[in-house]
Amino acid sequence: MPHRYESFFQPLQIGALSLPNRLAMAPMTRRQCPAPHVPTDAMAAYYARRAAGGVGLIITEGTHIDSLHAWDTDTVPRIETDAQIDGWRNVVDAVHAEGGRIAVQLWHTGRHAADPIAPSAIPAMRADGTHKATPREMGPADLDQVRDAFARAAERAREAGFDAVEIHGAHGYILDSFLSPEANVRRDPYGGSFENRMRFPLEVVRAVRAAVGSNYPIIYRFSQWKVDDYTALNFPDPEILGMWVRALREAGADLLHVSTRDATEPAWDHSDTTLAGWTRELSGLPVIAVGRVSTSASMGEARSVETTDPAPAAALIKSGEADLIAIGRALIPNPDWAQKVRTAAWRDLVPYDAKQLEALE
Ligand SMILES: Cc1cc2nc3c(=O)[nH]c(=O)nc-3n(C[C@H](O)[C@H](O)[C@H](O)COP(=O)(O)O)c2cc1C
Repeated sequence: MPHRYESFFQPLQIGALSLPNRLAMAPMTRRQCPAPHVPTDAMAAYYARRAAGGVGLIITEGTHIDSLHAWDTDTVPRIETDAQIDGWRNVVDAVHAEGGRIAVQLWHTGRHAADPIAPSAIPAMRADGTHKATPREMGPADLDQVRDAFARAAERAREAGFDAVEIHGAHGYILDSFLSPEANVRRDPYGGSFENRMRFPLEVVRAVRAAVGSNYPIIYRFSQWKVDDYTALNFPDPEILGMWVRALREAGADLLHVSTRDATEPAWDHSDTTLAGWTRELSGLPVIAVGRVSTSASMGEARSVETTDPAPAAALIKSGEADLIAIGRALIPNPDWAQKVRTAAWRDLVPYDAKQLEALE
C-alpha cells in the first residue's frame, strides 16, 4: 500500500468500540425518510454499500430524537417508536454484515425546528439573510424534556444494535446554541459565562451516559461554524476549548468529532495546529477530524467540487492530530472511496455534485 495512505488503514480500539480502520462516514442528512420515519431498505443498502467499500465507522444522517420540537422537515428518520427501532436494526444488521461499525447521530434542531425552541427567543437566519421563526425560550420543563429525549433515544439506539451514539452538538442546533453567546442570552444558570453556557450540553451527555451504561461508546460532535454563520467562534482560544473538551470527557464522552469545514486548517489565526489537534491534546480523548477531504472546496462554497489528493488527511493521523478521518461529500458518489484510495487511485474518484443528493445510491 502506498505509504501516504497507510495511516487510514490501521485498526483502532476505543473502549468497547473496535474499528477496522480510521475512516468514518460523516453524518449527512438525506431527507428520504417520510412519515412514519422508519428507516427504509434503501437506506440500509446505502449505508451497507459504504461499509462494503471499506469505511470502518458509518455515522448515520442526523436522526430526530422526538416528534415534539426536535424535527425540522418531515422527511428525516426518527428513533422513537418500535417500528423505527426495527427499521434501524435492519440498517445496523446490513452494515455489520459488511464488516462495518455504525453509530447513529442524535439530532434536535432547536432554533431551526419546524416549531422552534431554543435557549433564548432569538431566531436563526435563512441562507437568504431573512429570519426564521422566532423560537420559544426553553423553560425548566423543556430542559427536562430535551435531556430526557436524548437519553431515551440513546437507550433505543443501543437496543437497535448500534455500536455507538453520536450526540449532534454542532452547527447551531439545540446544544450548540446553548454555547453560543449570540443565541444564548439567558440570565439563569444556563446563560452568561462560558461555564454556564456549557451546562445544558453537559447535562445531556451525563443523561445519555446514565441511560446507556458505562461501557457504551458516546461520540460528541461540536463545531465553531453554524449553518447560518460560517465565521462563528464558540471557542475563541485554547483556554475555552480546553474547559469545554475536558468537561465533555468528565461528563462521559469517549470520542470527540470536531466538525470543521477544512480538516487541515489551523484552529485560529497564529496557530499552526488544527481544531482536532488542539482538542486531542487538551482533552486526552481520541478525535475525528473532518472537512474537505479529497474535495477542493469547503462545504457551502460550491455545489460541485473537484477531486483532490486525500494525503493531507492521512498525514493528520500520522502526526497525531487525529485518530479518525470522516469523509462527507466525497462518499456520496464514491461508496468505494476507501478501496480506490488504498491503491492510490484517488484520481478515479467521481467528483461530488449536489445533484447526486437527489437519489439515495
Ligand atoms: C448533504 C449534507 C448533509 C449533511 N448533514 C449533516 C448532518 O445530518 N449532521 C451533521 O452533523 N453534519 C451534516 N453535514 C456536514 C457533514 O457531516 C460534514 O461535516 C461536511 O460535509 C464537511 O465534510 P466534507 O467536506 O467531507 O463534505 C452534512 C453535509 C452535507 C453535504
